[in-house]
This record gives sequence, C-alpha cells and structure tokens, in this order.
Amino acid sequence: MAPDVHHGGGHDGDHDEDGAWQRALREQFPIVTAHPDTAYLDSAATSQKPRAVLEAVQTYLTTSNANAGRGTYPWANRTTELVERTRARVKEFLHDPGPDRSGVHFTSGTTDGLRMVARDWLVPHLTDGDEILVPHADHQANLAPWLEARHLLAARGVDVKVRALPYQAASGDYDHRALGTAVGPRTRFVAATHIHHVFGGDMNVHRIRAAVGPDVPICLDAAQSVGHLPVRVDDPALDVDFVVFSGHKAMALPGTGAVWARNTRGPVLRPAGWQGTPNTVGIVSLLAALDWLDEAGTDRIARHTARLTTRLTDRLRHLDAYEVLGCQSSLAADSAVPGGQRRHGIVTFRHRDIPSDDLGFILYSHGFMVRADSLCQAGATDRDGSVRVSLHLYNTAQEIDRLLDVIESLT
Ligand code: ALA
Repeated sequence: MAPDVHHGGGHDGDHDEDGAWQRALREQFPIVTAHPDTAYLDSAATSQKPRAVLEAVQTYLTTSNANAGRGTYPWANRTTELVERTRARVKEFLHDPGPDRSGVHFTSGTTDGLRMVARDWLVPHLTDGDEILVPHADHQANLAPWLEARHLLAARGVDVKVRALPYQAASGDYDHRALGTAVGPRTRFVAATHIHHVFGGDMNVHRIRAAVGPDVPICLDAAQSVGHLPVRVDDPALDVDFVVFSGHKAMALPGTGAVWARNTRGPVLRPAGWQGTPNTVGIVSLLAALDWLDEAGTDRIARHTARLTTRLTDRLRHLDAYEVLGCQSSLAADSAVPGGQRRHGIVTFRHRDIPSDDLGFILYSHGFMVRADSLCQAGATDRDGSVRVSLHLYNTAQEIDRLLDVIESLT
C-alpha cells in the first residue's frame, strides 16, 4: 500500500506553500525551463534530471573517473567508495530495517533487475511441482522473466506451474478475493507491481501478503513508485522481499537501476557469474538523485502529482468522447477513502474516434509529450493503443489545464 496522500483537501496555506516549493524545484530542471512552451508528460517512461544530478556526474567524470573494485590508486578507491556509499544510500532511502542482512545489486533498470531475481534467486531454489504467481496484465518486464525461469527449469526436468494473479476487470487492481483460489500449498513466490504503469493505481500488495501468508517471498516491481512516492520497506504494509526499480525513472541516468533484497525469506540473492565493470557514472547519478529526492520529500512529490492527477481526471471523465482506463473510483478527489484505489501520477485514456497514435501526434503539435502506443502492457495487442499522461513534480496545474483545453476541443 502506498502512503496516505490527501487529494484536493488541505487548506490554502498548504497549497501556497506547496506552490512555492514546487516552483523552486521545477527551476532546477534545465531541460524543463529551457522549453517553456512544451510540457513533458511522459515521466513513467523516464524522468527528467535536476541540476544536482547533472553536476554530480560532471564532477565525478572530471575529478575521479576510474573503475570500481579494481586498482588501488585514489581515483579507483574513490569510485569504489561512491559505489558502496550508493548501496548504503539505497537501503536508507527505502527505510530498510535490516541493512546488515539485506543486499543491493545494481542493474541497468527494472527489466534487468527482475530478470536477476528470476535467474539468480528463483530458478536455483524451485523444485518439481512448485507454483509461482505472476501478473499477466502488468508491464511485460514483470512477466517475461518468470516465464523464462519456467523454461529454464523445464529444460532441467523441473516442472513449475506459473499461475496468473487474478485481476478485477473494472479497476485493473488485483482481485484480492479471487487470490485465495490462486494460492496453494505449493505457492513459493509471487511477483507483483506497486503502481500500475498504465492505470496508475496502487496495486495494494498488502492484500497479497494477507492472502499468501507470512512465508511466501514477494518481488515488487517498483519502477513507477520509487522516486514518485515514499517506498518504505519497514512499513508492515510493504512486507516484500525484493524491491526492483529503475534509477532513470527516479531522476538518475539511463541504464541505472537496483534490486534491493531483504534476504530473510529463502536464500540470499547472489548475482551469478562474473560481474563486469559496473555503471559507475549511473551509480554516481543515483546517489545524487536519492539525496535530491529525499531533500525534496517524496511525500510532497506524491501529494503534488496526486493533485494534478485528480485535476486531470476530474475533467476528463466527464468528456463522452474519451474513455479513461483503469479504476474509476480513484478519479474522485477523495480517493484516500478506505477500500478506494489510489491513482499516482498516471492517467491513460482513449478517444472513441481518434486512433491513439494520431491523438499523440495532435497533442505533440500543441506541445504535449505523452506516450501513445500499447504501453508495454503484457497481453496488449497493437489494437489496444492508448494515450498515457504521466506526471512528476516539475509538472504544473497550468500544463494540465492547457492539455485539457486541447483534449476538450477534440470532442
Ligand atoms: N516502462 C516504461 C513505461 O512504462 C518504459 O513507459
């Protein structure tokens, strides 16, 4: 469960204060301020980078660029120290309650990280007849590695059953009532998503934990939550074993990501094989990004994007020409009501007559950069195209209002 974010309410003082805070932070994104007539609305694909991250990269490359874990001269030592500091920083950022036992492994992004968990942790420890429960309508990256694991095991004569997490068709959330029938005594592992990359909804992983009991390891695809809202593994509502995320969606450079492993249920995750040169520049950028995000406050970032999301959906849902995908109840400003599904910074929709790729071009001609395709959703076909607006703290209410004016003119 993501933290309580109160939408819409609050008193004006909070809004004024948040407005000044947001404007000051927006100023720190050179690419955003250099393009005042365009609005970047594709942060679920990758985030823009604040000056502090760009400067950290420049400083590192011009003062101590070397390889890590090799060499004994000062630049090499400094690089090794930065890599280890980032490892500790990831644990701190996630509020890791057991940093002496847990592990952080750097990857090129979420896809690579989920594959690491599948290949280096899941495959070695499953036995014939075991079952795993995985999402069939989330991001492809959170399905392909588990299917690959089953194939690898089958080649060794180990037959593992892959079961689909059940969904509620209307909301896109997992169907927690049906989960009971999907879980059995041989369920050894669950892969789930924190915030859905199409519907933007919190997938309520605490209910999966309730359904599978205390002993089954859960791997969380946190690509759309880390950097966007507080992700705290000390919270009993987030009792997961792996948190896998992309640094590039959390203000760091592309080609950067990490797997955090709690290492308390089942074997310790140990990446197999020879580990080549790490992406040192990416790791340095991640360190600066996590510092920056903590200073900005991920709770405030979540509150800002939730307000914008509500602003967008509150008008969009009244336009007959459009269909908003995913949970409808989260469109209300008070989506923090118990049982309601919360939407975090992602709104995906279709026009009833205009194909989504055409709609994407039209929106770009008005200065809006959105994603318009089938959004890497597992099970989606070319005909399932949609337009996704995804937000971050540099986006503004004015951008949303201008976008809505264009959207409305197309009805
Ligand atoms: N996974 C990224 C997205 O959803 C690329 O856009």
